Amino acid sequence: MKILSTVVMAAALIVSAQAMAAGDPAKGKATFAAKGCIGCHGAGAVGTPPTYPRLKGRDAAFIKENLTNFRSGKRKNPTMNAMAASLTDEDIENLAAYIDSLR
Ligand code: HEC
Repeated sequence: MKILSTVVMAAALIVSAQAMAAGDPAKGKATFAAKGCIGCHGAGAVGTPPTYPRLKGRDAAFIKENLTNFRSGKRKNPTMNAMAASLTDEDIENLAAYIDSLR
């Protein structure tokens, strides 16, 4: 019984971790507008290359990684370092889910 309940608990933890990791595309869309991303990357994140890259077509992992790196300063670009500075982890998850949903 003890082993079984441990297995059940571990499974429940995995499920809740996945639920937490998945962002909300609707909230991400709202954040994309509220934080001004839309001003440069455009409605629907189509961008205006070459100045403002197209984000539509990118997957959640790419968006998450790059926003995290802009926020930490690992990836350097004065504009995006400033834009990412105010994003919470939740904002990043939601933005990644929104942009992923445009593919
Ligand atoms: C003032 C204009 C501006 C705003 C506002 C802006 N960006 Fe950017 N963004 C840029 C530029 C310029 C780059 C290219 C940076 C580079 O060359 O490294 C970029 C790059 C990116 C990239 C990497 C794309 C790639 O192909 O590597 C992501 C992701 C991104 N922006 C997301 C966002 C999000 C999310 C927001 C809102 C929080 C935002 N941006 C707001 C100008 C902007």
